[in-house]
Amino acid sequence: MSWNRKHLLDIQSLSVEELRIILSTAAEFKRVGERAIKKVPTLRGKTVVNLFVEPSTRTRISFELAAQRLSADVVNFSAEASSLKKGESLKDTARNLEALNVDVIIIRHGATGAPHFLSRFLSASVINAGDGAHEHPTQALLDVFTIQEKKGDIKGLNVTILGDIQYSRVARSNIWALLKLGANVTLCGPSTLVPRHFEEIGCKVTHKIEEAIANADIINLLRIQHERQRQTSFPSIGEYTSLFGLTKSRLETTKKDVLIMHPGPINRGVEIDSDIADGDRSVILQQVTNGLAVRMAVLYLVTGGRGTQEIAPASA
Ligand code: CP
Repeated sequence: MSWNRKHLLDIQSLSVEELRIILSTAAEFKRVGERAIKKVPTLRGKTVVNLFVEPSTRTRISFELAAQRLSADVVNFSAEASSLKKGESLKDTARNLEALNVDVIIIRHGATGAPHFLSRFLSASVINAGDGAHEHPTQALLDVFTIQEKKGDIKGLNVTILGDIQYSRVARSNIWALLKLGANVTLCGPSTLVPRHFEEIGCKVTHKIEEAIANADIINLLRIQHERQRQTSFPSIGEYTSLFGLTKSRLETTKKDVLIMHPGPINRGVEIDSDIADGDRSVILQQVTNGLAVRMAVLYLVTGGRGTQEIAPASA
């Protein structure tokens, strides 16, 4: 098994073997993060740019810390304070970054395909940190890493993704990763946000929450992506919560060992009851912890990392 990709653009095009390489490399980096000295020299001399044109808390900070733990130099690009505001194109912005000899560009952008576009002309590696409603590959990777850590093999597990599927890049990346790894994927939410065409790629679709959660081993909740919806997809937030919110009474109908996941940001009291988000079945903050190891693995692999034996030495 070997990794030969220079970019990480999506989950859809990855093979099962490539998924497993990222997950096993992330497990090595998680062990590094538990050592007294958490930094390794793996990316010393390399420069990583966080090109975030949409807001982010978890992904941007996690990539920044991942690059620092690998001893790379990190530059955080602020779209609001950049010449994008003066009309400079994304292509020109990226080419100017490349003129500074950067090695990796991590991009979050509202346009589907923006990372793929950059990868066609940049010599730097490109990592997709979320493109429109298309994909958010490292979120799916950290989600499946967390599921594996808690439940063992993903094959045969019942995973329900509940909420706004239509406008969610997290949902799309999760669906591809989970199906490739052999999970049974159920999608649930209002019919305006959970279209039936997802059945064509192997998901089960239901608009009844009771049916979606009864046999779930994992419930992954998604917030309503208001920023991407062109029209209101349901009558009110109150109605959404009453029909699809994960409440304490609904949680009582689930398996006792169900895992509750959420990529964040959480809208407490809307898609998830606040006590459930903080409860003992929730692994929401463990997802964030695992995101660091997964992003270290991705940075390592796209810059030519070949073997986990290279990971072991602590930074001088
Ligand atoms: N899960 C996620 O992508 O969160 P951020 O938008 O804060 O990066």
